Amino acid sequence: MKDFLSELLICPSCKAKLKLYNAEYINGEIEYAKLVCGCGREYPVTNGIPRFVANDGYVENFSFEWNRFNKTQLDSFNRTEISQVRFREVTGFGPEQLKGKFVLEAGCGMGRFLEAASKTADQVIGIDLSFSVDAAMVNLRKFPNVHLIQADIYNLPLPLKSFDLIYSIGVLHHTPDPKAAFLRIAQLLRDKGAIAIWMSPKSRFPFLPKATSIARIFTTRMRKERLLNIIESVVPKVLPLVRVPVIGRSLKGWVIPVCDYKGKLPLIESQLLEWSILDTFDLLSPKYLYEYSPWQIRGWLTEAGLSDIITTSPAIVARGKAILG
Ligand SMILES: C[S@@+](CC[C@H](N)C(=O)[O-])C[C@H]1O[C@@H](n2cnc3c(N)ncnc32)[C@H](O)[C@@H]1O
Ligand SMILES: [Zn+2]
Repeated sequence: MKDFLSELLICPSCKAKLKLYNAEYINGEIEYAKLVCGCGREYPVTNGIPRFVANDGYVENFSFEWNRFNKTQLDSFNRTEISQVRFREVTGFGPEQLKGKFVLEAGCGMGRFLEAASKTADQVIGIDLSFSVDAAMVNLRKFPNVHLIQADIYNLPLPLKSFDLIYSIGVLHHTPDPKAAFLRIAQLLRDKGAIAIWMSPKSRFPFLPKATSIARIFTTRMRKERLLNIIESVVPKVLPLVRVPVIGRSLKGWVIPVCDYKGKLPLIESQLLEWSILDTFDLLSPKYLYEYSPWQIRGWLTEAGLSDIITTSPAIVARGKAILG
């Protein structure tokens, strides 16, 4: 943890500034310490990360997923610009907009989009409830402008109205109350700041049971190691089926609960298989997976008092700006 972050953090409970005690520095950064609040609460810093949760709660699957697939989607690891391009597509934040800005990613996983944002932003903060922050720390420690926090979106140790840009990609629909989660992060936006979120698409036929929804009844209750073993053995066998022209597309998700990246990315076959396994686990393991229409999401942005709202469909990208006031 850099000194910059220790000065920014507040007590998620009483919102007072925190004091740093017993700091142990390694290479100029705080590796271990405790952050103490006047209200009596204490928050540890371990492995360079301030922790504002006692455990990873309902996102145990993501702790497992992002520590197992800790580099799969990292641009600097696979020498592509896949995450960079996707970050730009989803957020609309280009280099001109990021330059000199204070940026927050809510639900950063192992840090693929933090890496993208850090290229031009002034400072980038990634928060996540899971132990994915430990994987992100290994991946991004070398970037002096990236900061990580283990914290819950519903109870953040960050001051209101403090960020120029906020984004959250593939996160809100995995929380117990996505609208409340959105309203929490929107409160952190400065006047004239911009926010962008991506959420998974709502089914076009919500009353037709999908194989994915049925499979999730069982897979969300399984031990994560066992689920991953099953996925690793099944995905390579069914990928040829879902790649059959025309019918393959309808089989995927509706009949066979897998994800497949074939044809989309400049990766070699073994990497495509790993991305497909990772994404199938990401689909079948999370406890919560909600679906909304773009109109519902637009309502959230309006309720948050944002202007210049854009929503797209079927996968939902929503963007808005904080009104000066
Ligand atoms: C599908 S992953 C996406 C991670 C990253 N945005 C990406 O696209 O690679 C969803 C992430 O949201 C995090 N998450 C879910 N609920 C959260 C909460 N209440 N507070 C903070 N993070 C949360 C999970 O731990 C997980 O890392
Ligand atoms: Zn306090």
